[in-house]
Amino acid sequence: MIPKAAPVITVDGASGTGKGTVSQLVATQLGWKLLDSGALYRVLALAAQKHSVALDHEKALDVLAEYLDVQFIAQLNDFPLVILEGEEVTGTIRTEIIGNAASIVAALPAVRAALLSRQRAFREYPGLVADGRDMGTVVFPDAELKIFLFASPEERALRRYNQLKERGVSVNLGDLIKELQERDKRDQERIVAPLKPANDAICIDTNRLSVEDVVERIVREIQGKKAFPAISELNLEFGMAE
Ligand code: DC
Repeated sequence: MIPKAAPVITVDGASGTGKGTVSQLVATQLGWKLLDSGALYRVLALAAQKHSVALDHEKALDVLAEYLDVQFIAQLNDFPLVILEGEEVTGTIRTEIIGNAASIVAALPAVRAALLSRQRAFREYPGLVADGRDMGTVVFPDAELKIFLFASPEERALRRYNQLKERGVSVNLGDLIKELQERDKRDQERIVAPLKPANDAICIDTNRLSVEDVVERIVREIQGKKAFPAISELNLEFGMAE
């Protein structure tokens, strides 16, 4: 009997589409693992900064990615804690500067290849919710359910603006829109694993939807899938294949 791989739901989309929060809530509802793949690229960018590695030095970044000493510590009803080389960096990796640096290192083919098996290792029972840009196209092409979230740059920038304001960080909305568009362009135009929906992804326009609406929609999709039994049975059903 060959063990059946754990089920995966992929949630891809651009920055600010709400995929991080949505993925975390879906994972919590299902009691599944969570992979925040963007955090891996962010941690790599931070490690590069820490070790004075230039963001275009592909060979050095490849080695750094291969030996990256990172841990994600799951927390109940919250995002995982992120530890780089023994130091907690959960908040440090969320700045705009690190986000941009992550988008630059993420465009390097050697870096993406080095992080691939690390991402696939998150696939564990009872299941995985994987959040990123290429989860449905490259990392988990055999996922049971693929979601692609989108929203206008203005709406996404506004969400980010409100988030930062809540944290007491003052930013200019115009600058945020410009930065988002630059990041989108880089993420969409890179040669390897560009940001795009998988052919079999369900695309959801989140412009006028709340986070709760999107979570509800995804959970409904899961329940509508033959491969997915009722949520209450999920932990029991995904055992071994014949
Ligand atoms: O989702 P995020 O904003 O935390 O991601 C930061 C950057 O990492 C993003 O601009 C592009 C890159 N990224 C990627 O290339 N592939 C992924 N699967 C996730 C993130």
